[in-house]
Amino acid sequence: MSLVQPHGGKLVNRVAEGEQRESLLQSAANLQTITLNAREEADLELIANGAFSPLEGFLGEADYLSVRDNKRLASGLVWSIPVTLSVSEEEKNSLKVGEDVALKGRDGRVLAILHLEEIYTYDKEKEAEQVYRTTEEKHPGVAALYAQKDYLLGGKITLVNKVSEAFGNYRFTPAQLRALFEEKGWSRVVAFQTRNPIHRAHEYLTKTALESVDGLLVHPIVGETKSDDIPADVRIRAYEELLSNYYPTNRTQLAGLPAAMRYAGPREAIFHALIRKNYGASHFIVGRDHAGVGSYYGTYDAQKIFSEFAPEEIGINLFFFENTFYCQTCGGMASLKTCPHDASNHVSLSGTKVREMLVNGEIPPVEFTRPEVAQILIDAYREKAQAA
Ligand code: ADX
Repeated sequence: MSLVQPHGGKLVNRVAEGEQRESLLQSAANLQTITLNAREEADLELIANGAFSPLEGFLGEADYLSVRDNKRLASGLVWSIPVTLSVSEEEKNSLKVGEDVALKGRDGRVLAILHLEEIYTYDKEKEAEQVYRTTEEKHPGVAALYAQKDYLLGGKITLVNKVSEAFGNYRFTPAQLRALFEEKGWSRVVAFQTRNPIHRAHEYLTKTALESVDGLLVHPIVGETKSDDIPADVRIRAYEELLSNYYPTNRTQLAGLPAAMRYAGPREAIFHALIRKNYGASHFIVGRDHAGVGSYYGTYDAQKIFSEFAPEEIGINLFFFENTFYCQTCGGMASLKTCPHDASNHVSLSGTKVREMLVNGEIPPVEFTRPEVAQILIDAYREKAQAA
């Protein structure tokens, strides 16, 4: 059995090598340059390596409007998040459609060439409403959108330098992960998205899903997250500890996804699923309030949104999960679907409460998180406090 097809049928590769790279790098010296922010850098890497297949560049206007309003590219293919590159009026005036532009990273290195096809204006509030379901600036995804500049550039990109070497051991491209799965003989692979340490609920979801497939891809976000989320380097330590003690190493693969979180809830769940399909996963986990923030989305909105599409349009199987918790009476993890006992039997702690305990050096209940994971988080909070 072979691995799942990438979205749109073909894995995109926009990475220049050899002579092509040399000549593009040379030409870059004479081009206008744009400096990317963290999210744009991340998007660039993921376009180039095929994680965003079928995208070959930043969206042009027809695709942008279609994604914003219909969750589809202009071709009709499902796509739920606008992947855009913004510039100021002054920058826009220095650019010419049809010409190449050098894209620089925040460290000043030329990362890619943009083959500029379009410059267009856009309506940020409308995008906020459609994509984030709110126009409130308190929403971190909306705040990032409002902070963008006023014009968007559309066009294919060609990568000439690696965007980042961070989390090198875990920074697999889709082609690399696909090769790895093939080597392991996995064709049914479930991917797990997370921006958190793996607590008992997450462990339950991943292991329950693994019961039905060949392998598990633990695929945490290692790109930009909001400041009160646990930083990726700390989480990686916690994943390593947890995986080496509690997961079957021959059926589990850890990899970092260098994407920026958008916190777009339902829209981002589709985006996350399509990306994992491109990395070769046949299955994807969507639990409660996937990619949500605050109370902007209903608990299961990120599951319901998939019913707007035919399964073959998404092309990756979904494992939906109810809100899960530890039930004292069941003596294990459960959900309202599987547990007959009332809430007084359930161990449930708010994120705020858990953070408070960790900051104070207290280990949360073992029913909530493994002590090894808690210890790593406590140490990280302590180091942060000492550094402040
Ligand atoms: S997310 O922003 O990446 O979605 P998080 O890391 O908390 O946040 O969640 C990772 C995945 O686990 C998501 O699919 C989410 O819906 C699911 N999830 C997290 N906690 C629970 C829970 N207690 N019950 C069910 N699903 C959960």
